[in-house]
Amino acid sequence: MFLFLRVLTSIFLISSIYPCVSSEIQGTLHRRNYFYVGEEYVNTPGTNNGSKIAAGQIYVEHLVPADVTQSLPILMIHGHGMTGTNFLNTPDGRLGWADYFLSQGFEIYIVDQPSRGRSAWQMGVDGEQSDFDTTYISSHFTAVQLFNLWPEAALHTQWPGNGTAGDPIFDNFYASTMPSLVSDEESSIKLKAAVGKLLDDIGAVILLTHSQSGQFGWILGDFRPSLIKTIIALEPIGPPFINAVFPPLTPARPYGLTEIPVAYSPPITSAADLQTEVVPSLTDASLNTTCFRQVSPARQMINLVGIPTIVVTSQASYHTIYDECTVEYLKQAGVPVTHVKLQDVGIEGNAHMMFMEKNGLEIAEKVVLDWIQKTIV
Ligand SMILES: *[C@@H]1O[C@H](CO)[C@@H](O)[C@H](O)[C@H]1NC(C)=O
Ligand SMILES: *[C@@H]1O[C@H](CO)[C@@H](O)[C@H](O)[C@H]1NC(C)=O
Ligand SMILES: *[C@@H]1O[C@H](CO)[C@@H](O)[C@H](O)[C@H]1NC(C)=O
Repeated sequence: MFLFLRVLTSIFLISSIYPCVSSEIQGTLHRRNYFYVGEEYVNTPGTNNGSKIAAGQIYVEHLVPADVTQSLPILMIHGHGMTGTNFLNTPDGRLGWADYFLSQGFEIYIVDQPSRGRSAWQMGVDGEQSDFDTTYISSHFTAVQLFNLWPEAALHTQWPGNGTAGDPIFDNFYASTMPSLVSDEESSIKLKAAVGKLLDDIGAVILLTHSQSGQFGWILGDFRPSLIKTIIALEPIGPPFINAVFPPLTPARPYGLTEIPVAYSPPITSAADLQTEVVPSLTDASLNTTCFRQVSPARQMINLVGIPTIVVTSQASYHTIYDECTVEYLKQAGVPVTHVKLQDVGIEGNAHMMFMEKNGLEIAEKVVLDWIQKTIV
Protein backbone atom coordinates (compact mmCIF):
# COMPACT_ATOMS: atom_id res chain seq x y z
CA MET A 1 0.00 0.00 0.00
CA PHE A 2 2.78 2.43 0.91
CA LEU A 3 4.69 1.50 -2.21
CA PHE A 4 1.57 2.07 -4.27
CA LEU A 5 1.11 5.52 -2.76
CA ARG A 6 4.77 6.33 -3.35
CA VAL A 7 4.45 5.39 -7.00
CA LEU A 8 1.29 7.46 -7.36
CA THR A 9 2.97 10.42 -5.70
CA SER A 10 6.01 10.25 -7.94
CA ILE A 11 3.89 9.99 -11.07
CA PHE A 12 2.02 13.04 -9.92
CA LEU A 13 5.26 14.94 -9.27
CA ILE A 14 6.58 14.03 -12.69
CA SER A 15 3.39 15.17 -14.34
CA SER A 16 3.35 18.42 -12.42
CA ILE A 17 6.88 19.48 -13.42
CA TYR A 18 5.72 19.79 -17.00
CA PRO A 19 4.39 23.25 -17.68
CA CYS A 20 0.68 23.35 -18.33
CA VAL A 21 1.12 24.90 -21.73
CA SER A 22 -1.50 23.44 -24.00
CA SER A 23 0.83 22.00 -26.61
CA GLU A 24 2.97 20.32 -23.98
CA ILE A 25 0.59 18.81 -21.44
CA GLN A 26 1.58 15.26 -20.65
CA GLY A 27 -1.54 13.82 -19.17
CA THR A 28 -2.68 14.35 -15.65
CA LEU A 29 -2.86 11.89 -12.81
CA HIS A 30 -6.52 11.26 -12.16
CA ARG A 31 -9.03 8.75 -10.85
CA ARG A 32 -11.47 7.32 -13.40
CA ASN A 33 -14.86 6.05 -12.33
CA TYR A 34 -17.95 5.25 -14.33
CA PHE A 35 -21.58 4.76 -13.49
CA TYR A 36 -25.02 4.69 -15.07
CA VAL A 37 -27.95 6.93 -14.37
CA GLY A 38 -31.55 7.14 -15.58
CA GLU A 39 -32.39 3.46 -16.05
CA GLU A 40 -35.96 2.28 -15.81
CA TYR A 41 -37.08 -1.31 -15.85
CA VAL A 42 -39.46 -1.97 -18.70
CA ASN A 43 -41.15 -5.14 -19.85
CA THR A 44 -39.09 -7.25 -22.18
CA PRO A 45 -40.55 -6.54 -25.61
CA GLY A 46 -42.64 -9.42 -26.90
CA THR A 47 -42.86 -11.27 -23.61
CA ASN A 48 -45.37 -11.03 -20.88
CA ASN A 49 -43.77 -13.05 -18.12
CA GLY A 50 -42.74 -10.24 -15.81
CA SER A 51 -39.09 -10.27 -16.82
CA LYS A 52 -37.64 -6.80 -17.37
CA ILE A 53 -34.84 -4.99 -19.13
CA ALA A 54 -33.32 -1.60 -18.28
CA ALA A 55 -33.75 1.27 -20.73
CA GLY A 56 -33.04 4.98 -20.78
CA GLN A 57 -29.80 4.84 -18.83
CA ILE A 58 -26.70 6.79 -19.80
CA TYR A 59 -23.08 5.88 -19.31
CA VAL A 60 -21.24 8.52 -17.31
CA GLU A 61 -17.46 8.68 -17.07
CA HIS A 62 -16.19 10.64 -14.09
CA LEU A 63 -12.59 11.85 -14.14
CA VAL A 64 -11.12 13.43 -11.02
CA PRO A 65 -7.62 14.95 -11.11
CA ALA A 66 -5.31 14.33 -8.16
CA ASP A 67 -5.50 18.03 -7.48
CA VAL A 68 -9.00 19.48 -7.87
CA THR A 69 -8.53 23.24 -7.88
CA GLN A 70 -11.70 24.39 -9.63
CA SER A 71 -15.02 24.89 -7.90
CA LEU A 72 -17.23 23.33 -10.57
CA PRO A 73 -16.95 20.20 -12.71
CA ILE A 74 -17.34 20.30 -16.48
CA LEU A 75 -20.07 18.12 -17.98
CA MET A 76 -19.29 17.27 -21.61
CA ILE A 77 -22.00 16.10 -24.04
CA HIS A 78 -21.02 15.02 -27.55
CA GLY A 79 -22.94 15.46 -30.80
CA HIS A 80 -24.72 13.28 -33.36
CA GLY A 81 -22.95 10.12 -34.48
CA MET A 82 -20.40 10.53 -31.70
CA THR A 83 -19.83 9.32 -28.14
CA GLY A 84 -17.92 10.60 -25.15
CA THR A 85 -14.66 9.37 -26.70
CA ASN A 86 -14.70 12.67 -28.62
CA PHE A 87 -13.28 14.39 -25.54
CA LEU A 88 -10.73 11.77 -24.48
CA ASN A 89 -7.67 11.50 -26.70
CA THR A 90 -7.75 12.58 -30.34
CA PRO A 91 -7.98 10.11 -33.26
CA ASP A 92 -4.23 10.56 -33.88
CA GLY A 93 -3.42 9.81 -30.25
CA ARG A 94 -2.81 13.28 -28.87
CA LEU A 95 -4.27 14.33 -25.55
CA GLY A 96 -7.80 15.67 -25.79
CA TRP A 97 -9.93 18.22 -24.03
CA ALA A 98 -10.54 15.96 -21.04
CA ASP A 99 -6.79 15.86 -20.40
CA TYR A 100 -6.47 19.58 -20.85
CA PHE A 101 -9.19 20.44 -18.36
CA LEU A 102 -7.94 17.81 -15.88
CA SER A 103 -4.56 19.54 -16.07
CA GLN A 104 -6.33 22.75 -15.12
CA GLY A 105 -7.84 21.17 -12.01
CA PHE A 106 -11.39 20.44 -13.22
CA GLU A 107 -13.41 17.38 -12.35
CA ILE A 108 -15.02 16.09 -15.54
CA TYR A 109 -18.14 14.13 -16.37
CA ILE A 110 -18.45 12.73 -19.90
CA VAL A 111 -21.65 11.01 -20.98
CA ASP A 112 -22.66 8.84 -23.89
CA GLN A 113 -26.06 10.04 -25.13
CA PRO A 114 -29.05 7.75 -24.48
CA SER A 115 -29.26 4.77 -26.89
CA ARG A 116 -25.70 5.37 -28.09
CA GLY A 117 -22.28 3.88 -27.43
CA ARG A 118 -22.14 2.44 -23.92
CA SER A 119 -25.67 3.72 -23.22
CA ALA A 120 -27.78 0.79 -24.32
CA TRP A 121 -30.03 0.96 -27.37
CA GLN A 122 -32.83 -1.51 -26.66
CA MET A 123 -34.58 -3.21 -29.53
CA GLY A 124 -38.31 -2.66 -29.37
CA VAL A 125 -37.92 0.17 -26.86
CA ASP A 126 -35.67 2.76 -28.50
CA GLY A 127 -36.39 4.29 -31.88
CA GLU A 128 -34.88 3.96 -35.32
CA GLN A 129 -31.18 4.67 -35.76
CA SER A 130 -29.03 5.96 -38.60
CA ASP A 131 -25.33 6.30 -39.39
CA PHE A 132 -23.15 9.02 -40.81
CA ASP A 133 -21.39 7.42 -43.79
CA THR A 134 -17.76 8.14 -44.69
CA THR A 135 -18.66 10.68 -47.37
CA TYR A 136 -20.86 12.59 -44.94
CA ILE A 137 -18.08 12.72 -42.32
CA SER A 138 -15.42 13.76 -44.85
CA SER A 139 -17.54 16.37 -46.60
CA HIS A 140 -19.05 17.92 -43.46
CA PHE A 141 -16.33 17.49 -40.83
CA THR A 142 -12.88 16.20 -41.72
CA ALA A 143 -12.03 17.04 -45.36
CA VAL A 144 -14.49 19.82 -46.08
CA GLN A 145 -11.94 21.64 -48.25
CA LEU A 146 -12.08 18.81 -50.79
CA PHE A 147 -15.86 19.07 -51.20
CA ASN A 148 -16.52 22.81 -50.88
CA LEU A 149 -20.19 22.45 -50.00
CA TRP A 150 -20.04 26.01 -48.57
CA PRO A 151 -17.61 28.85 -49.38
CA GLU A 152 -15.54 28.89 -46.16
CA ALA A 153 -14.84 25.15 -46.46
CA ALA A 154 -11.80 26.05 -48.56
CA LEU A 155 -10.16 27.54 -45.46
CA HIS A 156 -10.00 24.22 -43.60
CA THR A 157 -6.45 23.19 -42.62
CA GLN A 158 -6.58 21.82 -39.08
CA TRP A 159 -7.74 18.21 -39.42
CA PRO A 160 -4.84 15.80 -38.77
CA GLY A 161 -4.37 13.66 -41.88
CA ASN A 162 -6.29 13.92 -45.15
CA GLY A 163 -9.72 13.34 -43.62
CA THR A 164 -10.86 10.60 -46.01
CA ALA A 165 -11.21 6.82 -45.87
CA GLY A 166 -7.89 5.03 -46.09
CA ASP A 167 -6.08 7.58 -43.98
CA PRO A 168 -5.34 5.88 -40.65
CA ILE A 169 -6.36 8.88 -38.56
CA PHE A 170 -9.65 9.21 -40.41
CA ASP A 171 -10.23 5.48 -40.19
CA ASN A 172 -9.67 5.56 -36.44
CA PHE A 173 -12.05 8.48 -36.08
CA TYR A 174 -14.67 6.97 -38.36
CA ALA A 175 -14.55 3.71 -36.42
CA SER A 176 -15.52 5.67 -33.30
CA THR A 177 -18.78 6.95 -34.83
CA MET A 178 -21.99 5.22 -33.82
CA PRO A 179 -25.54 4.67 -34.96
CA SER A 180 -27.69 7.44 -33.48
CA LEU A 181 -31.41 7.86 -32.89
CA VAL A 182 -32.93 9.41 -36.01
CA SER A 183 -35.36 11.52 -34.00
CA ASP A 184 -33.90 14.54 -32.25
CA GLU A 185 -37.18 14.78 -30.37
CA GLU A 186 -36.72 11.27 -28.94
CA SER A 187 -33.07 12.06 -28.17
CA SER A 188 -34.09 15.27 -26.39
CA ILE A 189 -36.74 13.59 -24.24
CA LYS A 190 -34.42 10.75 -23.22
CA LEU A 191 -31.43 12.98 -22.63
CA LYS A 192 -33.42 15.45 -20.55
CA ALA A 193 -34.65 12.63 -18.31
CA ALA A 194 -31.26 10.95 -17.83
CA VAL A 195 -29.00 14.01 -17.60
CA GLY A 196 -31.63 15.71 -15.43
CA LYS A 197 -31.18 12.87 -12.92
CA LEU A 198 -27.40 13.13 -13.25
CA LEU A 199 -27.53 16.86 -12.47
CA ASP A 200 -29.74 16.23 -9.45
CA ASP A 201 -27.10 13.78 -8.19
CA ILE A 202 -23.91 15.74 -8.89
CA GLY A 203 -25.08 19.35 -8.51
CA ALA A 204 -23.95 22.44 -10.37
CA VAL A 205 -21.80 22.14 -13.49
CA ILE A 206 -20.19 23.96 -16.35
CA LEU A 207 -21.98 22.49 -19.37
CA LEU A 208 -20.09 21.92 -22.62
CA THR A 209 -22.14 20.97 -25.68
CA HIS A 210 -21.29 20.32 -29.32
CA SER A 211 -23.46 20.30 -32.41
CA GLN A 212 -26.54 18.09 -31.83
CA SER A 213 -26.12 18.46 -28.09
CA GLY A 214 -26.34 22.24 -28.46
CA GLN A 215 -30.09 21.95 -28.15
CA PHE A 216 -29.69 19.76 -25.07
CA GLY A 217 -27.82 22.68 -23.49
CA TRP A 218 -30.86 24.95 -23.87
CA ILE A 219 -33.17 22.12 -22.69
CA LEU A 220 -31.07 21.32 -19.60
CA GLY A 221 -30.59 24.98 -18.74
CA ASP A 222 -34.35 25.38 -18.95
CA PHE A 223 -34.96 22.24 -16.86
CA ARG A 224 -32.37 22.84 -14.12
CA PRO A 225 -31.41 26.53 -14.34
CA SER A 226 -29.80 26.61 -10.89
CA LEU A 227 -27.47 23.72 -11.73
CA ILE A 228 -26.11 24.99 -15.06
CA LYS A 229 -23.67 27.79 -14.24
CA THR A 230 -22.60 28.44 -17.80
CA ILE A 231 -23.23 26.88 -21.20
CA ILE A 232 -20.34 26.53 -23.61
CA ALA A 233 -21.96 25.68 -26.95
CA LEU A 234 -19.55 24.62 -29.67
CA GLU A 235 -21.37 25.09 -32.98
CA PRO A 236 -24.83 24.27 -31.59
CA ILE A 237 -27.39 22.72 -33.91
CA GLY A 238 -29.39 25.42 -35.70
CA PRO A 239 -30.55 27.73 -37.05
CA PRO A 240 -33.96 28.46 -35.42
CA PHE A 241 -37.02 26.69 -36.84
CA ILE A 242 -35.53 25.30 -40.09
CA ASN A 243 -32.67 23.24 -41.41
CA ALA A 244 -30.20 25.14 -43.55
CA VAL A 245 -27.40 24.81 -46.10
CA PHE A 246 -27.93 21.13 -46.87
CA PRO A 247 -31.22 20.18 -48.53
CA PRO A 248 -33.85 19.13 -47.63
CA LEU A 249 -34.47 22.44 -45.89
CA THR A 250 -37.17 21.00 -43.67
CA PRO A 251 -38.78 22.67 -40.66
CA ALA A 252 -37.02 21.73 -37.41
CA ARG A 253 -36.81 22.88 -33.80
CA PRO A 254 -40.39 24.17 -33.54
CA TYR A 255 -39.65 25.80 -30.16
CA GLY A 256 -37.00 27.96 -31.81
CA LEU A 257 -33.83 26.15 -30.85
CA THR A 258 -35.31 22.92 -29.49
CA GLU A 259 -37.49 20.02 -30.57
CA ILE A 260 -39.26 19.84 -27.21
CA PRO A 261 -40.87 22.65 -25.24
CA VAL A 262 -38.85 25.11 -23.17
CA ALA A 263 -40.34 27.87 -21.05
CA TYR A 264 -41.02 31.26 -22.59
CA SER A 265 -42.33 34.40 -20.97
CA PRO A 266 -45.02 35.33 -21.73
CA PRO A 267 -45.84 31.61 -21.74
CA ILE A 268 -46.76 29.64 -24.83
CA THR A 269 -49.29 26.87 -25.00
CA SER A 270 -47.94 25.46 -28.24
CA ALA A 271 -45.08 26.10 -30.63
CA ALA A 272 -47.50 27.94 -32.89
CA ASP A 273 -47.62 30.77 -30.33
CA LEU A 274 -44.09 31.77 -31.37
CA GLN A 275 -44.64 34.40 -34.05
CA THR A 276 -41.69 34.56 -36.44
CA GLU A 277 -40.32 36.71 -39.22
CA VAL A 278 -37.36 36.45 -41.57
CA VAL A 279 -34.13 38.31 -40.76
CA PRO A 280 -33.09 39.54 -44.22
CA SER A 281 -29.50 40.38 -43.26
CA LEU A 282 -28.84 36.81 -42.12
CA THR A 283 -30.74 35.08 -44.92
CA ASP A 284 -28.91 33.92 -48.04
CA ALA A 285 -30.82 32.01 -50.69
CA SER A 286 -27.60 31.09 -52.48
CA LEU A 287 -26.54 29.25 -49.31
CA ASN A 288 -29.97 27.68 -48.76
CA THR A 289 -30.22 29.51 -45.46
CA THR A 290 -33.17 31.33 -43.95
CA CYS A 291 -32.82 33.06 -40.61
CA PHE A 292 -35.92 33.47 -38.46
CA ARG A 293 -36.39 35.52 -35.33
CA GLN A 294 -39.44 36.23 -33.20
CA VAL A 295 -41.70 39.11 -34.05
CA SER A 296 -40.99 41.89 -31.57
CA PRO A 297 -41.61 42.05 -28.65
CA ALA A 298 -39.94 38.67 -28.37
CA ARG A 299 -40.90 36.19 -25.71
CA GLN A 300 -38.00 35.50 -23.33
CA MET A 301 -36.48 32.07 -22.73
CA ILE A 302 -37.09 32.84 -19.12
CA ASN A 303 -35.14 30.02 -17.47
CA LEU A 304 -32.01 30.80 -19.49
CA VAL A 305 -31.79 34.52 -18.81
CA GLY A 306 -29.49 33.95 -15.83
CA ILE A 307 -27.08 31.54 -17.52
CA PRO A 308 -24.02 33.09 -19.15
CA THR A 309 -23.56 31.39 -22.50
CA ILE A 310 -20.85 31.32 -25.13
CA VAL A 311 -21.28 30.09 -28.69
CA VAL A 312 -18.02 29.14 -30.41
CA THR A 313 -17.85 28.95 -34.20
CA SER A 314 -14.88 27.87 -36.27
CA GLN A 315 -13.72 29.56 -39.44
CA ALA A 316 -14.28 26.84 -42.03
CA SER A 317 -17.34 24.97 -40.71
CA TYR A 318 -20.83 25.17 -42.23
CA HIS A 319 -21.84 26.67 -38.89
CA THR A 320 -20.14 29.88 -39.95
CA ILE A 321 -23.19 30.40 -42.18
CA TYR A 322 -25.84 30.34 -39.48
CA ASP A 323 -24.48 30.37 -35.93
CA GLU A 324 -24.93 34.14 -35.92
CA CYS A 325 -28.65 33.60 -36.53
CA THR A 326 -28.79 31.22 -33.55
CA VAL A 327 -26.94 33.77 -31.41
CA GLU A 328 -29.31 36.56 -32.46
CA TYR A 329 -32.25 34.34 -31.50
CA LEU A 330 -30.75 33.73 -28.06
CA LYS A 331 -30.07 37.43 -27.55
CA GLN A 332 -33.55 38.44 -28.61
CA ALA A 333 -34.93 35.87 -26.14
CA GLY A 334 -32.95 37.44 -23.28
CA VAL A 335 -30.13 34.89 -23.00
CA PRO A 336 -26.79 36.52 -22.04
CA VAL A 337 -24.73 35.16 -24.92
CA THR A 338 -21.29 35.90 -26.30
CA HIS A 339 -20.34 34.72 -29.79
CA VAL A 340 -16.69 33.89 -30.44
CA LYS A 341 -15.68 33.29 -34.03
CA LEU A 342 -12.32 31.56 -33.78
CA GLN A 343 -10.72 33.52 -36.62
CA ASP A 344 -11.48 36.74 -34.69
CA VAL A 345 -9.20 35.55 -31.88
CA GLY A 346 -6.46 34.44 -34.23
CA ILE A 347 -7.38 30.75 -34.46
CA GLU A 348 -7.75 29.79 -38.11
CA GLY A 349 -8.51 26.81 -40.28
CA ASN A 350 -10.88 24.81 -38.06
CA ALA A 351 -14.04 22.96 -38.99
CA HIS A 352 -16.79 21.33 -36.95
CA MET A 353 -14.68 18.83 -34.95
CA MET A 354 -12.48 21.66 -33.67
CA PHE A 355 -11.64 20.09 -30.31
CA MET A 356 -9.86 17.11 -31.86
CA GLU A 357 -8.13 19.06 -34.60
CA LYS A 358 -4.43 19.90 -34.61
CA ASN A 359 -4.84 23.11 -32.63
CA GLY A 360 -7.63 21.78 -30.39
CA LEU A 361 -5.82 22.50 -27.15
CA GLU A 362 -5.24 26.09 -28.21
CA ILE A 363 -9.02 26.48 -28.49
CA ALA A 364 -9.48 24.86 -25.08
CA GLU A 365 -7.04 27.28 -23.51
CA LYS A 366 -7.63 30.57 -25.30
CA VAL A 367 -11.37 30.37 -25.68
CA VAL A 368 -12.96 27.90 -23.29
CA LEU A 369 -10.70 28.19 -20.23
CA ASP A 370 -10.59 31.94 -20.74
CA TRP A 371 -14.40 32.05 -20.77
CA ILE A 372 -14.68 29.93 -17.62
CA GLN A 373 -12.17 32.11 -15.79
CA LYS A 374 -14.09 35.25 -16.70
CA THR A 375 -17.50 33.76 -15.95
CA ILE A 376 -17.24 31.45 -12.95
CA VAL A 377 -16.21 33.25 -9.79
C1 LIG B 1 -39.60 -14.94 -20.26
O1 LIG B 1 -39.99 -15.30 -21.56
C2 LIG B 1 -38.93 -15.42 -22.48
C3 LIG B 1 -39.50 -15.68 -23.86
O2 LIG B 1 -40.48 -16.68 -23.77
C4 LIG B 1 -37.98 -16.51 -22.04
O3 LIG B 1 -36.89 -16.59 -22.94
C5 LIG B 1 -37.46 -16.16 -20.67
O4 LIG B 1 -36.62 -17.22 -20.21
C6 LIG B 1 -38.60 -15.94 -19.71
N1 LIG B 1 -38.05 -15.44 -18.45
C7 LIG B 1 -38.42 -15.92 -17.28
C8 LIG B 1 -37.75 -15.31 -16.09
O5 LIG B 1 -39.25 -16.82 -17.18
C1 LIG C 1 -5.73 9.88 -48.03
O1 LIG C 1 -4.72 9.01 -47.59
C2 LIG C 1 -4.96 7.64 -47.88
C3 LIG C 1 -3.86 6.83 -47.23
O2 LIG C 1 -2.60 7.28 -47.63
C4 LIG C 1 -5.03 7.44 -49.37
O3 LIG C 1 -5.35 6.10 -49.65
C5 LIG C 1 -6.12 8.34 -49.94
O4 LIG C 1 -6.13 8.26 -51.34
C6 LIG C 1 -5.89 9.78 -49.53
N1 LIG C 1 -7.01 10.56 -49.97
C7 LIG C 1 -6.88 11.76 -50.48
C8 LIG C 1 -8.16 12.44 -50.89
O5 LIG C 1 -5.82 12.34 -50.59
C1 LIG D 1 -28.97 24.44 -52.31
O1 LIG D 1 -29.95 23.48 -52.64
C2 LIG D 1 -29.92 23.04 -53.96
C3 LIG D 1 -31.07 22.04 -54.15
O2 LIG D 1 -32.24 22.59 -53.68
C4 LIG D 1 -28.59 22.37 -54.29
O3 LIG D 1 -28.55 22.00 -55.63
C5 LIG D 1 -27.47 23.33 -53.96
O4 LIG D 1 -26.23 22.67 -54.09
C6 LIG D 1 -27.59 23.86 -52.55
N1 LIG D 1 -26.59 24.89 -52.32
C7 LIG D 1 -25.69 24.80 -51.35
C8 LIG D 1 -24.75 25.95 -51.22
O5 LIG D 1 -25.64 23.84 -50.61
